[in-house]
Amino acid sequence: MGHEVIRKEDLNPQDYLIEVKAPLVAEKLLPGHFVVLMTHPKGERIPMSVQKAENGNVTLFIKRLGKTSVELDKFKVGDCLENVIGPLGTPIDVKKYGNVVVCSDLVCGHAENYSICKALRQIKGNHVISMQTFPSKNMIYLEKELREVSDEYYITLEDGSYGIKGHYRDVLEKMLKEGKIDMVFAGGKMDAYVPLAKLTKEYNVPAMVTLRPIMVDATGMCGSCRVFVDGEMKLACVDGPMFDAHKINYEELLNRVKLFKKQEETAFEDYKKKVN
Ligand SMILES: Cc1cc2nc3c(=O)[nH]c(=O)nc-3n(C[C@H](O)[C@H](O)[C@H](O)COP(=O)(O)OP(=O)(O)OC[C@H]3O[C@@H](n4cnc5c(N)ncnc54)[C@H](O)[C@@H]3O)c2cc1C
Ligand code: FES
Repeated sequence: MGHEVIRKEDLNPQDYLIEVKAPLVAEKLLPGHFVVLMTHPKGERIPMSVQKAENGNVTLFIKRLGKTSVELDKFKVGDCLENVIGPLGTPIDVKKYGNVVVCSDLVCGHAENYSICKALRQIKGNHVISMQTFPSKNMIYLEKELREVSDEYYITLEDGSYGIKGHYRDVLEKMLKEGKIDMVFAGGKMDAYVPLAKLTKEYNVPAMVTLRPIMVDATGMCGSCRVFVDGEMKLACVDGPMFDAHKINYEELLNRVKLFKKQEETAFEDYKKKVN
């Protein structure tokens, strides 16, 4: 039983795509929702954003970071995951925003941004501008697909070898200065949200960002994903993972995500010893 792997491919040297059969999840999944994966019955539950939920399958982009993401990379087409749980979290409000920027950078965020762009573009009156940032040309993925679901598309590379040199914030800042933007959605590196929040606040443009605190149960029971938004405690797995970028307590959030670094490193080292 379990959830069969339908497609599996490398996106770049660090990230891979995995498409998994999960008809009950795919049927109800909306942009902004996420899922939790379990590789085996005793495995940890890892939260993942979803690029597409189509034909009874969910498509995910996974970065090889530690024990579970590397373990999952060993799954081949035809193998089965123990579980795909979802949809989880609160979906975004799919409505008319006007000129809306959907951006993602280095670490991740590209998956959910695809689903957000696709949904917002179907609403009359929205002009969807997507932006991606990568370190270098060999890390690029999803460019073609994002161009297809956006009205405008920009790519920035840190090393300047393709597209525009720099970060998507540089492109966004120019547009904000020209008064062109009504709304921003962002995913990716959480510490990059601090300058993004400052920038959008300066131009009085609302921004929603996807938070990725450590999640354990991802159903609102354990409290490990708590974040403070406008001084109020929220659970990212239930109330999020997208929140108002201008109201998040980033200092507390960024300190909390470092809490389990030691345990994660130990689990990865133990796993590598076991498989080598
Ligand atoms: C809502 C949400 C959406 C996510 N979407 C994606 C995605 O699309 N692609 C992707 O590659 N990753 C995504 N992540 C992060 C992903 O869940 C972790 O990278 C993954 O759990 C790593 O597990 P690991 O055992 O391989 O690495 P570990 O060594 O356990 O961790 C590596 C790093 O991943 C983060 N992390 C670890 N465990 C968790 C956890 N249970 N919850 C949240 N973060 C964790 C930590 O920052 C840690 O430093 C998402 C996380 C959340 C909360
Ligand atoms: S992960 Fe346990 S409450 Fe959110």
